[in-house]
Amino acid sequence: MNGELKVSKIKNGTVIDHIPAGMAPAVLKILGIERSCPDTVIVAMNVKSQRLGLKDMVKVENRALEPQTVKKIAIVAPQATVNIIREMTVAEKIHVELPQELIGIIRCPNRNCITNSGERVVSHFTVERRAPLSMRCHYCESLVEGPAVELLL
Ligand code: CTP
Ligand code: ZN
Repeated sequence: MNGELKVSKIKNGTVIDHIPAGMAPAVLKILGIERSCPDTVIVAMNVKSQRLGLKDMVKVENRALEPQTVKKIAIVAPQATVNIIREMTVAEKIHVELPQELIGIIRCPNRNCITNSGERVVSHFTVERRAPLSMRCHYCESLVEGPAVELLL
């Protein structure tokens, strides 16, 4: 024990670890867990971490993440690791990575942008800078600076 908080392990599911302190609620929102959810969800906030000082963590039983979901998590938690747990062991560890092009991930803040017009034009942003995060709309060139961006859910 090195002063680290012990949080129950899960049997099967997904552990999202190394979330910046305070961002667990944003991750829950991305996962669509805002009210009730049929499976066990463990949320830890402000736990000690070697890498981040303090971190948040989200564990969801019986849940696999879509690639689009992992991209959204990379916006709010660029250093997160997504651990796939099978029969108690870490079967896979993914270091999230924000792709250069974000398609159908965030909403353009410009209400007049074609992607907000009701025509079927899918949002497309290009990452211009990673830290601090800065992204530009492919259509109207609006600049969005994260991680407080509006995600398309
Ligand atoms: N975990 C879990 N249930 C399991 C196995 C692992 O909840 N059955 C959690 C661990 O508590 C940890 C994360 O999954 O938060 C990753 O596990 P592991 O790779 O064993 O931990 P570390 O080596 O500390 O991971 P990292 O190097 O990514 O910090
Ligand atoms: Zn736009």
